[in-house]
Amino acid sequence: MKFRVENLTAGYTLGSQTIHGISIEVDQGETLCLLGRNGVGKTTLLKAIMGLMTHTEGSVYLDGEKISGLPVERIAGAGIGYVPQGRRLFSELTVQENLEVGACIRRHQRVDYERVFELFPKLKDRLGQVSGTLSGGEQQMLAMARALCLDPRILLLDEPTEGLMPAMVRAVAEFVRQLMSMGVSVIMVEQRLDMVKMVADRICLMDGGTIVKTLSIEELPSSMEAIHRALSV
Ligand SMILES: Nc1ncnc2c1ncn2[C@@H]1O[C@H](COP(=O)(O)OP(=O)(O)OP(=O)(O)O)[C@@H](O)[C@H]1O
Ligand SMILES: [Mg+2]
Repeated sequence: MKFRVENLTAGYTLGSQTIHGISIEVDQGETLCLLGRNGVGKTTLLKAIMGLMTHTEGSVYLDGEKISGLPVERIAGAGIGYVPQGRRLFSELTVQENLEVGACIRRHQRVDYERVFELFPKLKDRLGQVSGTLSGGEQQMLAMARALCLDPRILLLDEPTEGLMPAMVRAVAEFVRQLMSMGVSVIMVEQRLDMVKMVADRICLMDGGTIVKTLSIEELPSSMEAIHRALSV
């Protein structure tokens, strides 16, 4: 598996560029963390990869096959999973119904729920619970489980630890590490350095809609100044 973004540019209105000239590569089982201040375009980058932005230029390739320009359901079907910021569950629906919605895009293929429950055993006991009544951490688990139903080859996670307590942050890190060991790649927006240190292979610092620096995890200790600069207001 090889995932490649080439010179991606996207904006919310014609002629405006919220992100520009973004190029990244992710190998199989690798985790790339995106860091940057509020409003620098991290969420926009994930949306552009997913085909959710109307004004986009540049290309996205999965295993050499161009997926940019395809409708979002075909991008998801090609193996790109997406867990949006703020989880975006169907809060009126039960846990089971949320998983079924996640799975419905795979119309003709069976969904391996057992694999999902192996990673998220607690959800199995709560299948009938209305998802809006789950705790924040449980909702994040459900959002990730729902994305996993599509059997993605690469998963885009937008601030999965936002608002979670340390124990839940570790649970999310554990999930990401399990994905990596299964050969799934991850692109994760993450502001918490403790989380980044637990899972990242490489780190991209974003500013002003573009990637200003890419670091390997080994370079992290010597790059703290650049990181604090990228995160400070
Ligand atoms: N739907 C939208 N329509 C117009 N502008 C938008 C829309 N969504 C985001 N923007 C703008 O695009 C810019 C980048 O937003 P984006 O959500 O990508 O930032 P972010 O890096 O994810 O920030 P945060 O850390 O707060 O989540 C911001 O200036 C934002 O106001
Ligand atoms: Mg965001």
